[in-house]
Parts: sequence; C-alpha cells; structure tokens
Amino acid sequence: MRKPKFQVPTGMHDILPKDQPYFDKVYDVVSKIVDSYGFSKIVPPVLEQAELFSKGIGLATDIVEKEMYTLKTKGGNVLAMRPEFTAGIVRAYIEHGMFNQPQPLKLFSFGPVFRAERPQAGRYRQFHQFDLEVFGEASPAVDAQIMQICYNILQELKIKDVIIEINSIGDSQCRPYYKKLLVNYLRSHQTALCADCKRRLRKNPLRILDCKEEKCQRVKASAPQIIDHLCQECNNHFKEVLEFLDALDLPYRLNPCLVRGLDYYTKTVFEIFKEGPAGESQVALLGGGRLDNLVRLLGGKETPVCGVAGGVERIVGLMKAKKIKLPVIAPAQIFLAQIGISAKRKSLGLFEDFRKAGIKVVESFGRDSLKAQLGRAQKLGVKYTLILGQKEVIEGTVIIRDMEKGRQKSIKLDRLVREIKRKLKT
Ligand code: HAM
Repeated sequence: MRKPKFQVPTGMHDILPKDQPYFDKVYDVVSKIVDSYGFSKIVPPVLEQAELFSKGIGLATDIVEKEMYTLKTKGGNVLAMRPEFTAGIVRAYIEHGMFNQPQPLKLFSFGPVFRAERPQAGRYRQFHQFDLEVFGEASPAVDAQIMQICYNILQELKIKDVIIEINSIGDSQCRPYYKKLLVNYLRSHQTALCADCKRRLRKNPLRILDCKEEKCQRVKASAPQIIDHLCQECNNHFKEVLEFLDALDLPYRLNPCLVRGLDYYTKTVFEIFKEGPAGESQVALLGGGRLDNLVRLLGGKETPVCGVAGGVERIVGLMKAKKIKLPVIAPAQIFLAQIGISAKRKSLGLFEDFRKAGIKVVESFGRDSLKAQLGRAQKLGVKYTLILGQKEVIEGTVIIRDMEKGRQKSIKLDRLVREIKRKLKT
C-alpha cells in the first residue's frame, strides 16, 4: 500500500478508539485516588512563556536546551509548548495568590506534554502525564505520601512488582560543596567520559551521574556520593523519608546516581520502575521529588513543594503488554432501520427518544436498502431491529424484529420506547 501523503509527525501518535479505554482508565484511577487525598484539578495552558521553563527547569537541561518546541508570536513573545506541568502549575499558584489559601494546597493535572526527544520505545514527542504537586509542606511525610499515592495508582491499575529508586540531592547549603568534589573527581577522569559528559562537566556535572554510557558507568562507580556529603538538615530529612517508606512498607532502593533531568529539585528525588528481568533496560513510569526553591525562583514567596509526574503512555504500554482487562462498554442492542425520506425524518426523532431514555441505538441513516441495513444489524449482533417505512409512518407504527428468532411484530410508535425497555429487561 502506498504511504498516505500526510502522516502523524515523527514521535507523535494517534490514540485510536481501541486504546482510548486504557487512557480513560488511567485518568479515572488517578482522579479517584488523588481526590481521596484532597487534590484539586488545575489545567494550565499548553503554551507558556518559554522563559518560565528555562528559568524553572534550568537552561542547561536537555529538556530546555534541546527538546522544547518554541514559537514566536506576532507580538514578539517567545512561547513554548509545555514540556512538563510543574513550572506551569507553580506559575499559576503564584499568579492566582494560592498561597493565601489554607496550606498544604494539593493540585493535580492531566494532559499532553511535548518534548522533541529522539523517538524510541516508550519515548515520544507528545505524550501524556498526570502530575501532582503539594504546596506549603516541608515535612518528609509528604514525600513519602506522594510515593504511596503513586504506588496505589499502579496497584489499582494492576501493575505489580514496582520499585521506587530514591536519592537525596541536597540543597543550596550542601550541594555546591558536593558539586566541587564531584567536578574535581570527574576532571581527573575526563578522558574516560563520553562526548556528552565532557560537555556536561562544564554545564551540568550532576547529570553525568545519570549517564547510561558504559564508559561513564565505570567512572561513576568510584565517584564521591552526595549522600555522604549532605548537610545535617538534608540528612535528617532524607533519613525520615526512608523511615516513613519503611513504615508504609513501600518497596524502595537507594540509587546514589539518581539526579533527575530537571534542575529544580532539592532534597528527595525518586523514580518508579517496574522490576524486570536483570539486564533489561527499564524506563521510569513516574518521576518526582521535592522542589523547595522553585516558587521563590519563579517570583513567589518561599514555599516548599513536593510533586511527581507519571508517563501515561508508558503505563498504558505496560497494561497492554500484561493484557490487563478493562470493563467492556456494553454494545447497542437496538438497530434503527428506515426506508424512505419520511421514515428517515421520523427516525431522527426516535433516535433522540431512545437516547433520552438511556437506550443505546445504532442506525445507518446513509443507507436506504432494507437488506443492507438488516445485514449491518446482523453483523453488529443487536437483539432487535426497528423497521420504519412509509406505511409505518402513515399508520404511526413501527416493526420490531427479533434478530435471533427472525420474528417480527408491529407496535404503536407511542408505546415503542416502553416496550423496548421491557424487552431488554427480560
Ligand atoms: P520527568 O521524569 O521528566 O518528570 O517525567 C515524568 C514521567 O513522564 C517519566 O517518568 C516518564 O514516565 C514520562 N516521560 C518522560 N519523558 C517521556 C517521553 N519522551 N515519552 C513518554 N513518556 C515520557 C517531570 O516531568 C517532572 N515535572 C515531575 C515532577 C512533578 N516533579 C515534581 N513534580
């Protein structure tokens, strides 16, 4: 078959009707669970000022440096399609004075985000995230509770054997000192680093810890670990987060190389994976952490925040791979067949009567041949076909055909909906 002239852009995808129930299921589970924890929904726009992301996420991050879709408006503003929700939600929190509301304030969002990444399995250029942010609470209990919520969401979606990888990346007290130690160490091993990491050494050395290249893995293995250089406050905070995770019996493992690809984090960072066979590279299902400096950085008051985002396509991919069953939407049991223009006119009204009565009906207004319409009704496997011709319109009747038994009877139109209701009940 020849390729169609227009195709979906590289790295983007259509969510076809057959896949929609998975996305709906994720949305339903997320919104129900977060509602029980007191979250309210917020929907920031897809476009924001590009500077919000470069300032919030960080100029030297891959997301801002390479992956943002930006555009210039006629008025000369530079806007970007959101590559994530956090910066937009924080902007809205400040802009709408939400710090005046009782804290902690818990917000969640759901929708598409855009990153011009190199497409590969589980990595798209338009994908969906659900995002949770808790404002105004510095306690490590919040960090643990967010991980508990993520765990509950995955459990409810029947995704088992998940593991939380966790680390602390300190704060402005302790991270600069650690950064110096790390840079000194990495400089002495510079020749053994991949080309990207050589560049990162100048711009964003912590990200080298995250590099998956084999040569860098060897260098990383003996690098100083931030966990050994946390200040007292960050150390206590991290210890308490781990104690809460133990108390909640959540599965976690420490990953001293976890630094995350966004610059706004302080203290806790974490990612959640599905445990797979050893050696198989896994993609994170969710990632998050604490961002106690972001509100101030974007022009608000000092406000601690902790949040997370989940990748919906990755979760849906797992649900499909595991053949997780979803409730089947009941198909229509009634087919409405019509012959001739006056019957068609009448059918449109009848269709509305059934819809109001909550009875699903399929029709084929485009076809006139009764044979073709009955063929379609047969294919759809409906229980009854209603046949409306010129004669029936004049007499104010309709024929009900029992598709299984092949029997038909005529009844008055004004009794039709009631009669069908009764038949479907028995
Ligand atoms: P993130 O780790 O960049 O964090 O993204 C969160 C999740 O989105 C990932 O764990 C992954 O499942 C999914 N994801 C990321 N990139 C792609 C992609 N190209 N294709 C498909 N799925 C992808 C954030 O976005 C932070 N804003 C999370 C956060 C909220 N931190 C605090 N609050």
